[in-house]
Amino acid sequence: MRHLISPLDLSVEETEEILLLAEDIAKDPTRYSQVCKGKKIATLFYEPSTRTRLSFESAMLNLGGNVLGFSSADSSSAAKGESVADTIRVVSCYADIAAIRHPKEGAPYVASLHSSIPIINAGDGGHQHPTQTLTDLLTIHALKGSISNLTIGLCGDLKFGRTVHSLINALVRYPGIRFALISPEELKLPTYIKTDVLEAKNVPYIEAEVLEDVMPELDILYMTRVQKERFFNEEDYIRLKDRYILDKVKMSYAKEDMLVLHPLPRVNEISVEVDDDPRAVYFKQAQFGVYARMALIMKLLGLSL
Ligand code: NCD
Repeated sequence: MRHLISPLDLSVEETEEILLLAEDIAKDPTRYSQVCKGKKIATLFYEPSTRTRLSFESAMLNLGGNVLGFSSADSSSAAKGESVADTIRVVSCYADIAAIRHPKEGAPYVASLHSSIPIINAGDGGHQHPTQTLTDLLTIHALKGSISNLTIGLCGDLKFGRTVHSLINALVRYPGIRFALISPEELKLPTYIKTDVLEAKNVPYIEAEVLEDVMPELDILYMTRVQKERFFNEEDYIRLKDRYILDKVKMSYAKEDMLVLHPLPRVNEISVEVDDDPRAVYFKQAQFGVYARMALIMKLLGLSL
């Protein structure tokens, strides 16, 4: 049985298979509308979410399956003190696959140790978010044609942003990838990711505080939200939250074919005036997220057309 806890649980070849399947689904999703008939996904969300939970549910419904679950810890037995291990033992009796989001790093991994169904990590604290990574890779693959020889700017909260951590882990496995890490001093990428991932793999990167300084070099700009819920004090959040606001003026420094990605939700970091720029693909990215999750569910359940 397979789980997806970290993006590295899938080899580059398996990731490629999922991306190609997702692209095939995107061409004509109705062909896949019966693949999961009779199957159920449980979405166990101990932390707020809109698109991740709904996109899992949409993905399973598109495949002809059913969904059950809860959308906050308060509405589950966690409120009574039940452990994640016990919850997943029980949920294994009710569903064929489960997606778990939890504020504590490692919770989906613990669940996987006690589960008899495949577990998907739908975001664990400030740690990993592998299905967002599949979404991001699919967006790049579909719109750029390949995931190689790209300069990727990651901007915003690189310290707490789990989507950034997972994406870096996945991207360093592709040839010719370079990073520009754009953040304030306080929200820099954790040192362990710089040393254990970027430096260990000899992946070139620069750190910058000013977005405009690196903008002309970028093929992809990945904007992120300052992760309010992971701050220890509100003052720091307020001081840092509007540090980067992408607007038309900043976009004028970018290449004609640069893509702007964002895992969403957006707060202030991208001005709505950028939404009409053809390079802004974050809403397309949300659509790709459904196709990526459809392909992943099929892969983990061992199903094909
Ligand atoms: C991200 C997350 O939950 O980490 N959202 C998402 O899943 N699309 C990014 C964020 O919340 O800022």
